[in-house]
Amino acid sequence: MARISFLNSWRTQSTGTRVLRLMLGGTWLYGGLQKALDAKFLDKASTGYIGAQITGFAKSSPLSFILRRMIEHATLAGWMILLGELAIGIAVLTGVALQAAIIGGASVSLILWLSVTWHVYPYFLGSDTAYLVMWVALFFLVRKEAGARAGKSPIPNLSDRREVLQMVGVGVTAVIAALAAGGLKKSIPVPKTGVKIVDLSAFPVGSYAQFTAPDGSPAYLFRTKAGVFAYSAICTHQGCTVGYNPSSNTFDCPCHGGKFNPANGGAVLAGPPLAPLASIKVAIQGNSIVTV
Ligand code: FES
Repeated sequence: MARISFLNSWRTQSTGTRVLRLMLGGTWLYGGLQKALDAKFLDKASTGYIGAQITGFAKSSPLSFILRRMIEHATLAGWMILLGELAIGIAVLTGVALQAAIIGGASVSLILWLSVTWHVYPYFLGSDTAYLVMWVALFFLVRKEAGARAGKSPIPNLSDRREVLQMVGVGVTAVIAALAAGGLKKSIPVPKTGVKIVDLSAFPVGSYAQFTAPDGSPAYLFRTKAGVFAYSAICTHQGCTVGYNPSSNTFDCPCHGGKFNPANGGAVLAGPPLAPLASIKVAIQGNSIVTV
């Protein structure tokens, strides 16, 4: 029965609705799984910790009064975001509690726009405004195609047992998916320290090079008279990969114009990022430069 309603939810909808459902549902599911698989997201000691991200957003978001309160419950907020994204993705793709999921997705996009991408200029470079518009369009398409003009409310009817059970089902599925992803995360090898990056003799003072950090992400290594140091090349705004520009001695982000200063702890020089680039600990050991 559930299989039939899942298939019907796709068969009976227009191509435009299907495209929006596929894109939004797939993106939300991917976003939730990515957070569940990211060891840094709920790790308080990491620069990628959700609490560190909320602290950065709280500095200048119009929602700062809410975000500041969330900081002390950041891990709980992180779990809610992760499970919420998974639940919305699953609901939109399966068509279970679809309208409730669309309202949830639009709310998430609105909050992300007011916090994460609020300072992106021009606005069209920030993805959250586009997602918000897509959710609104999907909502009206689904309402129209479901014959909602006949009087059905877009708000989930909590006195309707079937609708409540559907939402509980989506929530339980999200928890199971998160736990399964958590198990997968444990099987991913923990990045090792002491990994050789390059021979010291091949990397004289004044050199810089891109390398792959032990966690598999892109990074940059520098050697100056003061020693060796390295930064993650993942932009702290929305995760694009920054490039090193030797003529200006800056890291430049191609997505929204963020600039970082490698000579000053990866500090933000320009653009929407609020946090510096994450530094990676490296050291000289014998004739090698290694991660520590
Ligand atoms: S991802 Fe937006 S400035 Fe880098």
